[in-house]
Amino acid sequence: EKGGFAHFMLKEIHEQPKAYRDTMLGRIDESGRRIVLPDLHLTEDKIRSINNVHIVACGTAYHAGLVGGSVIERLVRIPVMYDVASEYRYRSPLITPETLVIVVSQSGETADTLAALREAQANGAHVLAITNVVGSSIARDADDVINTLAGPEIAVASTKAYTSQLIAFYLFSLYLAQVRGTQTADEIAHIIAAMHALPEQVESMLANVDAIKAYAEHIAKHEDLFFIGRGLDYAVAMEGSLKLKEISYIHSEAYAAGELKHGTLALIEEGIPVIALATQESVLEKTVSNIKEVKARGADVLALTHEEHVAGLLKSVDQAFAIPKTLPILTPALSVVPLQLLAYYASLARGNDVDKPRNLAKSVTVE
Ligand code: M6R
Repeated sequence: EKGGFAHFMLKEIHEQPKAYRDTMLGRIDESGRRIVLPDLHLTEDKIRSINNVHIVACGTAYHAGLVGGSVIERLVRIPVMYDVASEYRYRSPLITPETLVIVVSQSGETADTLAALREAQANGAHVLAITNVVGSSIARDADDVINTLAGPEIAVASTKAYTSQLIAFYLFSLYLAQVRGTQTADEIAHIIAAMHALPEQVESMLANVDAIKAYAEHIAKHEDLFFIGRGLDYAVAMEGSLKLKEISYIHSEAYAAGELKHGTLALIEEGIPVIALATQESVLEKTVSNIKEVKARGADVLALTHEEHVAGLLKSVDQAFAIPKTLPILTPALSVVPLQLLAYYASLARGNDVDKPRNLAKSVTVE
């Protein structure tokens, strides 16, 4: 049942190229220039009338939403707000009929996310669900659904569901941009072409795990570490940190790289591992200065960056791993993979139950 893999989590990490392809299948037209989402009830007029988006989810699904919302803002220029579902209802969110609420849930059964969906509908919003389980409660109750086609996810730690949610967000953001005319046909075709290359790029990373495995064995000896990054790198850092905590039980924090010096820098001491995501070129220089701040306090820094920056970054960090090159907005679909592997191998090195971490359930049906 594990298809020759030692754990479901590793199997599911390896299923990601297929999950990307399956989630894209039939949603891009033959010319490779347009998104087609024929099942959506959201009309083009309705899409043009949306003036804000709320993204609501829990845990890893929330982290996918952080990436997705940022992509919507960049490609479609609609303001996006984010909430963890357990907070959403209780802060009296400003929901109007012009609000599009996107709920994200692998299982489609998360109680808080379902309650958020109901709150949104009661206030007249159109609710789009991104789920991985056809016929789940959230899929049934939402006004629209984009199914991620990741296949069943068994390991408690979510991997292929997260990356398929990213693909769903890319498709939907491009669709909104297409309808609202905020990106040209050529720009859309360019992004689609880069999306088609993602599965092979993931395969290339999965063929080459020795360095990340060795690094995981190194951090398995630590009790605390930090992830830092800016922009989309920060969103991925949050997911990397959650994954690591969840299955390795190593404490970690994800920090916006520029925010460290406002307090958390006090925790940086000799030898503490800091994983710096440095894939977003528009903020690379700034991230490098933040790396230097932790390095100066003795941190042991690993950078994740593109090949062309490895040599330069090695002047400021202890190690650097290359992430294949794609468009900045698509990079999370690649840069998260070594972080999933890091969590997996760190958990393994500590002798934990990788697929069934303590205290956690796959589906959280209590509020
Ligand atoms: O089924 P859902 O996507 O709604 O689940 C949400 C979270 O409980 C889930 O993503 C959780 O954070 C994962 N175990 C993280 O790996």
